[in-house]
Amino acid sequence: MALTLTWYGHATLGMETAGYKILVDPFFSGNPAASTTADKTQADFILVSHGHGDHVGDALAIAKRTGSLIISNFEIASWLEQQGVKTHGQHIGGGFKHPFGYLKLTQALHGSALPDGSYGGNPAGFLLTTNEGQKVYIACDTGLFGDMRLIGEEGIDLAVLPIGDNFTMGPDDALRAVKLLQPKHVIPVHYNTWGLIAQDPHAWAERVQTETEAKVHVLQPGQSFSI
Ligand code: NI
Ligand code: MN
Repeated sequence: MALTLTWYGHATLGMETAGYKILVDPFFSGNPAASTTADKTQADFILVSHGHGDHVGDALAIAKRTGSLIISNFEIASWLEQQGVKTHGQHIGGGFKHPFGYLKLTQALHGSALPDGSYGGNPAGFLLTTNEGQKVYIACDTGLFGDMRLIGEEGIDLAVLPIGDNFTMGPDDALRAVKLLQPKHVIPVHYNTWGLIAQDPHAWAERVQTETEAKVHVLQPGQSFSI
């Protein structure tokens, strides 16, 4: 197995690959869907997609406790570094070979203001190529965009897509995203955290599996999937 991905509820993910633990958008405190707590979490690296509180979340506290390196866009990385943690700033379209794989930031159609009102740069998604060559695309908070087709051209093994609607793609646009990306496997996230983004992931999975070749894996918070 090249990569194991765990969904902790909302948009919070853990990945294990090449012996490293990577957290994505670690939102535990105040997250009604969280399957664990920030103080129980370990991370070598933390990826932050954009500045909103449900994504920056507990990144600072976890990084301070564990010494993990936070990877985000340049503006968020600078903001976090000023608060005493190690960071690595990248930007959209730029990739870097980290110990756990080659990580590229992708565009996302969303906002990115930081919790204290600071400028959070542009929101991003993540395209990770593991050291064994598997491609994982985490769209993060975004609306549908046609250039998902370009991302799909890379050959996506696993796509993690929001389906909650209101703040991000809803089920209809997330289905169109699957058609553009043509991933082998899909995991839906960013739904059922609050009533405002309530969705039926199983109904969505059926539509995706009827209309595309992708296999959908509906996880419960705390559950994992490996490729
Ligand atoms: Ni957001
Ligand atoms: Mn969000």
